[in-house]
Amino acid sequence: MLRAPLLAAARSRRMRSLVETVPATRSVVRRFVAGSDTADAVRVVRELTEDGLRITLDHLGEDTTDAAQATTTVRAYEEMLAALAADGLAQGADVSVKLSAVGQFLPVDGEKIALENARRICEAAAAVGATVTLDMEDHTTTDSTLGILRELRVDFPWVGAVLQAYLRRTEQDCRELSGEGSRVRLCKGAYAEPETVAFQDKAEVDRSYVRCLKVLMAGKGYPMVASHDPRMIAIAEKLAMEAGRAPSDHEFQMLYGIRPEEQRRIAADGETMRVYVPYGDEWYGYFMRRLAERPANLTFFLRGLATR
Ligand code: FDA
Repeated sequence: MLRAPLLAAARSRRMRSLVETVPATRSVVRRFVAGSDTADAVRVVRELTEDGLRITLDHLGEDTTDAAQATTTVRAYEEMLAALAADGLAQGADVSVKLSAVGQFLPVDGEKIALENARRICEAAAAVGATVTLDMEDHTTTDSTLGILRELRVDFPWVGAVLQAYLRRTEQDCRELSGEGSRVRLCKGAYAEPETVAFQDKAEVDRSYVRCLKVLMAGKGYPMVASHDPRMIAIAEKLAMEAGRAPSDHEFQMLYGIRPEEQRRIAADGETMRVYVPYGDEWYGYFMRRLAERPANLTFFLRGLATR
């Protein structure tokens, strides 16, 4: 019931300035966000790596309408990848990139600029042995993001993308992206989407997730199962086994701060578990989507504010 208003608030400038100016917010946000700068990100990566987890780092930011800001974001990725390499943490690491943070929405040549900026991030990742995965934003960007993915994969065949099971089109997208070398991170989807393009009912989204998993696990690519849902994880494990996939042929992924004990348990069981670690000052949209996913998080947030 609270999902829709919280997702609407995630895109409201007024709500953003309200939430951001509450002094106690930051310490609550820390549950989901590693910190504000590269040093924070590297520290968290080191801790997770020591616990047997892999990582994908997201420099927070989205919906940029300023070319200079998009360039600053690219530099932040380059700096972070260099810092990971300096600490011996880059090999096998991944970075997650929102194309709207690197220019996709710029009024003139947005897609072209986003492609060039994403290419620079791919070059920096390739230089240190890391990979890149394109996050997926709302459905109006899906075609553009998949188009940019295709272009990037010509030079960097290991670039991956997120597909969202709540979209009606996604089963078909999974088929198209289940070939050799393809890396697909399958999630349920975190944005407010109309009925015309997306399943609204949780059971329907779950059924779509399973159909998509079947396609990806039976395919020749590398499926990345991004979910905290124990049912989806159990089904993925079974499908991987039936398809004869070893732990090196697929992986599980969860968000930083969500079900951390389960992340460690799955890794200790011998599976590959990668944690999505966001950092940076632009945490508002990301944080609001996490609140929308789970009303208990909102209670946690409000209680955190009330006790300060
Ligand atoms: P579901 O929402 O059904 O939750 C299952 C269980 O997980 C809950 O009962 C609860 O125990 C736990 N849980 C889930 N969310 C929680 C939360 N916020 N706080 C605490 N517990 C929670 N989306 C998108 O649209 N584009 C993208 O690019 C990405 N990228 C991405 C990367 C990775 C690595 C992950 C794990 C997820 C994403 N997402 C995403 C988010 C995704 O679409 C989805 O919104 C969340 O993962 C929640 O869905 P679940 O599959 O976890 O199931």
